[in-house]
Amino acid sequence: MNSDLNGARIVVTGGAGFIGSHLVDALLRDREPVSVTVVDTLINGTEDNLSQWADDPRLTLRVADIRSRRAMDEAMAGADVVFHLACLGVRHSLHAPEENHAVNAEGSLTVGLAARDAGVRLLVHVSSSEVFGTAQYAPMDERHPTWPETVYGGGKLAGEAYSRAMYRTYGLPAIVARPFNTYGPRSHHEGDSGEIIPRTIVRLLNGSAPVLYGDGEQTRDFMHVQDTAAGLISLAECADAVGETVNLGTGLEVSMRRLCEVIAAAVGRPEVTPVQLPDRPGDVRRLVVDHRRMTELTGWNPQVDFSEGIADLVDWFRACGRSPEDLMADVAATNWSGTAIPA
Ligand SMILES: NC(=O)c1ccc[n+]([C@@H]2O[C@H](COP(=O)([O-])OP(=O)(O)OC[C@H]3O[C@@H](n4cnc5c(N)ncnc54)[C@H](O)[C@@H]3O)[C@@H](O)[C@H]2O)c1
Repeated sequence: MNSDLNGARIVVTGGAGFIGSHLVDALLRDREPVSVTVVDTLINGTEDNLSQWADDPRLTLRVADIRSRRAMDEAMAGADVVFHLACLGVRHSLHAPEENHAVNAEGSLTVGLAARDAGVRLLVHVSSSEVFGTAQYAPMDERHPTWPETVYGGGKLAGEAYSRAMYRTYGLPAIVARPFNTYGPRSHHEGDSGEIIPRTIVRLLNGSAPVLYGDGEQTRDFMHVQDTAAGLISLAECADAVGETVNLGTGLEVSMRRLCEVIAAAVGRPEVTPVQLPDRPGDVRRLVVDHRRMTELTGWNPQVDFSEGIADLVDWFRACGRSPEDLMADVAATNWSGTAIPA
């Protein structure tokens, strides 16, 4: 199998989103693909995320839904490699479980079948560490049991199973990547999509306190989006990874309380005390990766230091051209149950 992405026709579902757009950047910057076609509804992604390539004839944006078999057949005609990232997030799954399942599980089946019938040479399915549920042992390798605690985690698990089935049942070369939590420029601070790191940065820049749910001792493994994008490309170029399911994370376990301290220091407000609110339903207690399989297969290792990555993201928000008050207006004012979050 030719595992080189140079000269390839590449499709990226969800390519206008946070991780997808960084993957597109890395593909167009570091490789020489013939074309990169992004398929995205733009429900949570934006054309702005791809604006640096607006005049590059290699990039095409198709505003389309992965649930449409016809749209996927059209996007994949002649494609060599598909990266599948389109999804709806964990918070969305709390109040819209059926739609979340339809996109993350059924949509992944549609993507896989379209890729199979288009005869692509590789499908890279981007799953999530949320398929594991909370750590039963740590660090978590690929053999860790999958016991998702949310409909999002369940839908992601179904999606990755369907992609494995494309390989096992139909012979379509497929790789499943399971990134752990990812942060960096273009991550979501807003509404339903709001992630802990950008939300906390925006709150702190705006003079508000960070919010901790429960005791704040929940842990995550935070990886910079440049490392995530580089990891996905390394996997796609690794012939030995075909048929594999591979964890992608840093191995550094950080509690939410510690995270707030690092962000507060980066913003220049180290004295701030977090607001403490009740636990989020289905919140996973502990997540930390064992990425030895990934490194063994591809030689990949995370490059971005956590505190430096956070400091860079604070700078990015400061330079984004919007005031802290304006950014704060996008942050969800209520939690999943409609309870107001203190400003
Ligand atoms: N952000 C993280 O921390 C993280 C961690 C692990 C795994 N992941 C996975 O990485 C992938 C990308 O996540 P992200 O954080 O960039 O999220 P994102 O919301 O920024 O990107 C997802 C993109 O999919 C698009 N989309 C949603 N529904 C669609 C549909 N029906 N058809 C076509 N496009 C649709 C959205 O508009 C968005 O641009 C997802 O599969 C997610 O599960 C993310």
